[in-house]
Amino acid sequence: MGVEICVEGLTKSFGQQVIWQDVSLTLPAGEVSVMLGPSGTGKSVFLKTLVGLLKPERGSVRIAGRDITKLREHDLYEVRKLFGVLFQDGALFGSMSLYDNIAFPLREHTRKPESEIRRIVLEKMDMVGLIGAEEKLPGEISGGMRKRAGLARALVLDPEIILFDEPDSGLDPVRVAYLNQLIVDLNAQIDATFLIVTHDIASARQVPDNIGLLFRRELVMFGPREKLLTSDEPVVRQFLNGRMQGPIGMAEEKDAAQVEQELAQLDAPTKAPGSQALTPRLLPGPGISRPPRWQAIASREAESHRKEVADA
Ligand SMILES: Nc1ncnc2c1ncn2[C@@H]1O[C@H](COP(=O)(O)OP(=O)(O)OP(=O)(O)O)[C@@H](O)[C@H]1O
Ligand SMILES: [Mg+2]
Repeated sequence: MGVEICVEGLTKSFGQQVIWQDVSLTLPAGEVSVMLGPSGTGKSVFLKTLVGLLKPERGSVRIAGRDITKLREHDLYEVRKLFGVLFQDGALFGSMSLYDNIAFPLREHTRKPESEIRRIVLEKMDMVGLIGAEEKLPGEISGGMRKRAGLARALVLDPEIILFDEPDSGLDPVRVAYLNQLIVDLNAQIDATFLIVTHDIASARQVPDNIGLLFRRELVMFGPREKLLTSDEPVVRQFLNGRMQGPIGMAEEKDAAQVEQELAQLDAPTKAPGSQALTPRLLPGPGISRPPRWQAIASREAESHRKEVADA
């Protein structure tokens, strides 16, 4: 059914370097959330902290009533079975075939017979379009194929929580479109709780229920997608519209005077009606029934549409 993840006051540093501080958010059970942020703001570190691979200095991560930052290794091992994780680099074992890589979590965490493992592995490989590549080694295939193998592996244990770190990087636009549809369909079918890190703004606009943005060592905003997509917060606006003008620069931070000047130039024209238009959400494919919460999401979106029109 998916479980809620409740993050409170989380702070992570490496030595003197604070990566982010006082991050609080709730990933609602069964919903899809996306985490955005410039390169180096600690998105991958955030995912690793959620699975307990990295220990935060302060704060808590409550999953199914337990604070995983306080668990010992043995209990953590149990909690990790709830997760399906695709790491940014894919993290496949180089000396194992794709088939064995994808079968690995099943052999490690379950006592299923090989015949059952085979059924599950082939089903997931089919789902991500890798049938025929079972015997290939990770070094012999393209980056996009490695990504998809990582996706298949993240799904074999029927996880309740799915964390994908840039599942779409290295994929061509058509495959990104398929991947987005796959995520929406999967979510409607298995109702797991998703958190996806992506740099692809089009995906971030269409796929999730919620969006978060990390910037300057803080969580700038986290909330329903329509709230962020129509937000006037300068960092959120700049990021979701992929603009150069705004607080985010190449070196990540610009000086205050420059930002103010840019925003002054930007504000007048972009206040025009429709500039913050709400992209429609991607729906599950034909034959896949929509979970009940979609009703609530639809009326929430209709409400913010009405507000948008009234404001314009
Ligand atoms: N194990 C580690 N030890 C020390 N520093 C680390 C470690 N892992 C990450 N960092 C640092 O934490 C910061 C955030 O890294 P992270 O990989 O989370 O960024 P990111 O937001 O995922 O970036 P990108 O979008 O490029 O993937 C970086 O400055 C990185 O050097
Ligand atoms: Mg990263």
